[in-house]
Amino acid sequence: MFKTNENTLFVDGVSTLELADTYGTPLYVYSEDQIKRNLNEIRTSFLQKYPNTHAAYACKAFCTIYMCQLLNQEGFWIDVVSGGELYTAIKAQFPPDRIEFNGNNKSEEELLMALDYGVERIVVDNVSELYHLEKLCMKNGKKVKILFRITPEVSSDTHDHIATGKKDSKFGIPLNDEILYPLIEYTLKSAAFEFLGFHFHVGSQLLDTKSHLSALEVILDLMLATKQRFDYDIKDFNMGGGFGIKYTDSDRPLGISDFVDPIMNRMNEFCRENNLIRPHVSMEPGRFIIGDAGIQLYRIGNIKEIPDLKTYVSVDGGMTDNMRPGLYGAKYDAIIANKADDPKNSVVDISGKCCESTDILIKNLKCTKPETGDLLAVYSTGAYGYAMANNYNKIRIPPVVVIKDNKAQLIVRRQSYDDLIRNELL
Ligand code: LLP
Repeated sequence: MFKTNENTLFVDGVSTLELADTYGTPLYVYSEDQIKRNLNEIRTSFLQKYPNTHAAYACKAFCTIYMCQLLNQEGFWIDVVSGGELYTAIKAQFPPDRIEFNGNNKSEEELLMALDYGVERIVVDNVSELYHLEKLCMKNGKKVKILFRITPEVSSDTHDHIATGKKDSKFGIPLNDEILYPLIEYTLKSAAFEFLGFHFHVGSQLLDTKSHLSALEVILDLMLATKQRFDYDIKDFNMGGGFGIKYTDSDRPLGISDFVDPIMNRMNEFCRENNLIRPHVSMEPGRFIIGDAGIQLYRIGNIKEIPDLKTYVSVDGGMTDNMRPGLYGAKYDAIIANKADDPKNSVVDISGKCCESTDILIKNLKCTKPETGDLLAVYSTGAYGYAMANNYNKIRIPPVVVIKDNKAQLIVRRQSYDDLIRNELL
C-alpha cells in the first residue's frame, strides 16, 4: 500500500506530494485496497470458515456515505450508534435489514427512526431502554428483534478510557441475576420483541484475547441458564469489536483468526456438551477494518528549537483532526513524505496548531530533519480520526480522499469558513 519512490511516499501508486498539492493539507487519505484486504481477512477467517455468522462494521470508526456504500457492496452489515450514523447509512442506501443499532442512550427520536426504517436489530443497552422501546413498539404496532448488551465484568489490557467490559461501566445491563433473569422472562413474553440473545463489547485496540474469552464464558453461562430457566434457545451472540491494529513498531496485533478460532471452538464445544443449538455468531469491528487503511498528511509550519531540550515541529492540523493522542495518549508513527528515503537522524515532537498544550500529535518522532514546507504523513489514522474531528478554535475539518484503482477520489470536501458559521443566527 505504501511505497517510496524517488524519495517520495506513494499510496497505492499515487504520490502524496501530488495529493497535498491537489487537495491541500491537512488531508485524510484512504486506500480502498487496504480496506478490502481487511474485509477479506474477516471473510476468510470468520465468515467463510464458520457458517451462520455475520460481521457488521462499527461505523463510528469512520462513518461516511462512501464507506456505507463500500460495505454494502462487500456484503457486510453496519452497526450504528446514533440517528446521524443511521441517517448516513440510509442516505447511502444501505439495506436496513443489515443494520444493527447500539448505544447506551438512544433517544426516542432515534428509536423511532430505527423502527421506521426497519433496522434489523436493536442492541438494548439497559433496563430503562427496554421498557421505553417496548412502549414505542406497542404504540407504533411494531415488533423488533433485540439483543441484550451485557456488562461481562472483565477488565481489558487497553487504555482505561476505551475498556468497556468492567463492572463499573456506563454500557450494558449489569451481570446480576435479579436484574437479568426477570428481564429475559419479561422480554420473552412481550409482544414487542423477538429476543435474539446476548452482546458484549469489552474494549477497543485489544492486542490479546483474554477479555473476549472471559466475557464469552459469561455469555455461555447465560445461554445455558436461559435454556434451563425458560426453555429458550438463544439465537444470536455478538462478540463486539475491539481487535487491535498496529500503530507503531512496538504493537504486535493479532489476526482475526486468533480471536475467532478460540471463541468459535469454545462456543461449539460448550453447545455440544450442553445440548444447546449453537447460535448465530456476529462481530462488529471498526478499527480493524479502517484503521491501517488511512493516513493523514500535514504541512510542516513553524519549528521551535529549545536549546538542550527539544524541537517542536508544528503542523497545520492537530487535535481537531486527530484527538486520539490528546485524549488517550495514543501513539503514531510518521514519515516526512518528501524525504521518504533520507536517514532518520532527528528526534522531534510534532505539535498541532490548537491553543492547548496537550495538542501534541507525536512525541519523540524519529525522522529526517524536518524543514518548514515539508509534508508529514502520519500512518494508521483511518479509525477515529475523521470520525472524532471537531471545530475547536474554529479550525475547518479536512477533506477525505480515497485511492481507488490507483486514482484519487475526493469523498468529503474541506469545510469552508461559511460551514463554520452556517448554523449561527446573526
Ligand atoms: N461495538 C461497540 C458496541 C463499540 O462500542 C465499539 C467501539 C465497537 C464495536 C468497535 O470497536 P473497535 O473494533 O473499533 O475497537 N475512540 C476510541 C475508540 C472508542 C471505541 C468505542 N466503541 C479510539 O479512538 O480509540
